[in-house]
Amino acid sequence: MLLAVVNTLLVIVTPVLAAQTRPYPQCKGPDFRFDGYTYTLAPGTSERIWSHCSFPNPRADHARCGRTEIDGQYFLCDPDRLIWNQTIASQLEDKLTEIRNRTSTMCRDSAGVRETFRVAVALVHRMYIPELNSPQLCTNECGRLQPALNVSSRQQSQEEIDETLRVFADGLRALWKIGTCGNDVIVVYCQQFDQVYVSAGSAASSFLPPERVADLQDKFRSFLIEFGHEQGLEEGLSYMLGSLKVTLQGLTPAHIMLITNMALLGILGVLMLYYVLGKKFKVDVWGNNWRWPLGSGLVRWTSSP
Ligand SMILES: *[C@@H]1O[C@H](CO)[C@@H](O)[C@H](O)[C@H]1NC(C)=O
Ligand SMILES: *[C@@H]1O[C@H](CO)[C@@H](O)[C@H](O)[C@H]1NC(C)=O
Ligand SMILES: *[C@@H]1O[C@H](CO)[C@@H](O)[C@H](O)[C@H]1NC(C)=O
Repeated sequence: MLLAVVNTLLVIVTPVLAAQTRPYPQCKGPDFRFDGYTYTLAPGTSERIWSHCSFPNPRADHARCGRTEIDGQYFLCDPDRLIWNQTIASQLEDKLTEIRNRTSTMCRDSAGVRETFRVAVALVHRMYIPELNSPQLCTNECGRLQPALNVSSRQQSQEEIDETLRVFADGLRALWKIGTCGNDVIVVYCQQFDQVYVSAGSAASSFLPPERVADLQDKFRSFLIEFGHEQGLEEGLSYMLGSLKVTLQGLTPAHIMLITNMALLGILGVLMLYYVLGKKFKVDVWGNNWRWPLGSGLVRWTSSP
């Protein structure tokens, strides 16, 4: 009975490996070409509106990612300087390094360099939003969906925000290729939506079931609500990267369930053995005769005081 309950739980928490992706048709003609654009400027406010296409890569272009240092390996890109305190940015960068330092080797790249889990972060103020209801909706060669939503004609729905973030994060993961065996995770935060999205490669997503990701997202949001845009973002990211490290180090709820399940099976086995033996113990449990079933025969062990 208990085992049945645990098994049901196990089925519920078992990671859904393949994240569902909506297929979009390819654009035709000039719409298909990606012309190297970086961002567009919002009419009126001149705020930069990013799509994942040509979003700066922190490993190649850390200056455009808002980092002033010359040396080092960077995995955090913040071109809009949402985190202006460089000390905090460095601390977040350290947390990303720690994930690479402290998780298991997943594979080796073509040069034989061992790869652990790798996490990169992209922070944007505003994001390009596609018109998902358009009958002409299509994807260009770099994975951007067209046409754009006319934001002055209608507001995007929460579902469209989720899909916009997914396309951005998955697109960035495909372009940056920070891991060669699905050991990559991209965290994208968009200030305009006040929301974070986690895109995980195949190896990483077995450690990050949707429930875990939803949990991280909710917790991140609670930091924004409590501390506001600036400090909330710093605290939320810090929390999220710390949690990602622990999660990617192993022991997910699914693993814990599996271990619990095995333990319960073991206990059940012992109980059954005890039940079988108990019938014999009852006869002479206080006596000096002990019987142990061993193999096919019954071994009688008599001790005399
Ligand atoms: C940046 O953050 C560090 C660490 O929290 C803090 O000590 C420092 O005062 C901050 N710098 C500025 C200019 O606020
Ligand atoms: C990560 O490992 C490198 C090389 O072993 C070491 O120099 C660095 O201090 C470590 N960083 C962190 C944050 O763990
Ligand atoms: C966007 O919508 C507004 C209001 O409906 C309209 O005036 C404007 O022409 C539209 N812009 C584009 C590029 O379609």
